[in-house]
Amino acid sequence: MAKQLNVGIIGYGFMGRTHSNAYRNVHSFFSDVPYEPVLKTICGLEEKEAKAFAERWGFKSHTTDWHKVMDDKSIDIVDICVPNNYHAEIAIAAAKAGKMIICEKPLARTGKEAEPMVQAVEKAGVANLVSFNYRRVPAITLAKKLIDEGRLGRIFHYRANFLQDWTISTKVPQGGMATWRLDVKAAGSGVTGDLLAHCIDTAMWQNGPIASVCAMTETFVKERMNVDTGKVEPVGIDDACTFFCRFKNGSLGNFESTRYARGHKALFTFEINGEHASIGWDLHDLHRLSYFDHRDDSQVRGWRSIHVTDGDMPYMGHWWVPGLQIGYGETFVHQLADFLDGVAKDKPASPTFREALATQYVCDAVLVSAKNGKWENVKA
Ligand SMILES: NC(=O)c1ccc[n+]([C@@H]2O[C@H](COP(=O)([O-])OP(=O)(O)OC[C@H]3O[C@@H](n4cnc5c(N)ncnc54)[C@H](O)[C@@H]3O)[C@@H](O)[C@H]2O)c1
Repeated sequence: MAKQLNVGIIGYGFMGRTHSNAYRNVHSFFSDVPYEPVLKTICGLEEKEAKAFAERWGFKSHTTDWHKVMDDKSIDIVDICVPNNYHAEIAIAAAKAGKMIICEKPLARTGKEAEPMVQAVEKAGVANLVSFNYRRVPAITLAKKLIDEGRLGRIFHYRANFLQDWTISTKVPQGGMATWRLDVKAAGSGVTGDLLAHCIDTAMWQNGPIASVCAMTETFVKERMNVDTGKVEPVGIDDACTFFCRFKNGSLGNFESTRYARGHKALFTFEINGEHASIGWDLHDLHRLSYFDHRDDSQVRGWRSIHVTDGDMPYMGHWWVPGLQIGYGETFVHQLADFLDGVAKDKPASPTFREALATQYVCDAVLVSAKNGKWENVKA
């Protein structure tokens, strides 16, 4: 019999839905994980919406006060799906209450804000994970496996993009619940913390630590209406960011993110070039991995498009039959399965708060470099 674990999710927005879906499905698809999550409490700002969400997703209760989730002794896991400015306060309270914690990315707005979160979970000895879910796209997990097996040989280049186009209009406001990402007080930064954090986490997982960065950022729309104050105010986030970096292993990195690439909604891509082979991936075709191996017979040498659906591919044995693909939502199921498996085996799933702090430090260095126009070393 699987042990039941009560879950309290803070935030019923986009991520509240992906995480609720994962809790509902993880035990059905990953039956080897010896826990069965129970959706106990959903918390969000609006009473009516929280109640409706609870009814729709099958939560036993709802609240508009996250402190109540910490006070509820029956809750085992606190799952943080709120804007970035609330992560630290809620996570530290959850750690003090002895809860296991899953926190959405980025861990916090800055490294300085994230450090006490790391200390709190380590002092409390509670299981903790940051939701960098792209690691759990089967094709990305496969890419990591191929790199670890040494198939690429020495790595020379890592390049990644995350392109969107939803803030080009000057009429898009900042602040409020719909556009908190444009308000620096809530988000901490723009595309750097929101989008590049994903690229950086994936890159360091695959290719090791980033040692130094040289960045430029731009805020194309300098003023926007702030929904919270009703006034037109300066915009404090980076609309676009491009940075070069040196990885500790000697390879060179090239990262770009923007919300001003007309025609792109969520184009996360990466390419890795090694001595023997190269790998490429594209979120719009997320079940495929591109692979080129120079050691192939020259007559059939070329880029392969691997359809990552067979049962021996990462995670895929838990899903349908070979040839049938899965999507974005399932990455959160995989993340949860790994988290619960880590709890069962006392072997923490990655990235823990401490591991995610490294990504935060890269983001910090990128923003400092963009300001001072110089190369910045990343805090170790
Ligand atoms: N892993 C990913 O791919 C991914 C994707 C999107 C967002 N995120 C991250 O998830 C987090 C949430 O983003 P989202 O897109 O779900 O946001 P959202 O705007 O869709 O939802 C935010 C939720 O937070 C709730 N909330 C806000 N302040 C609160 C408070 N003080 N107390 C209780 N509830 C509060 C709101 O009611 C709302 O339900 C962010 O940190 C974001 O960076 C991660």
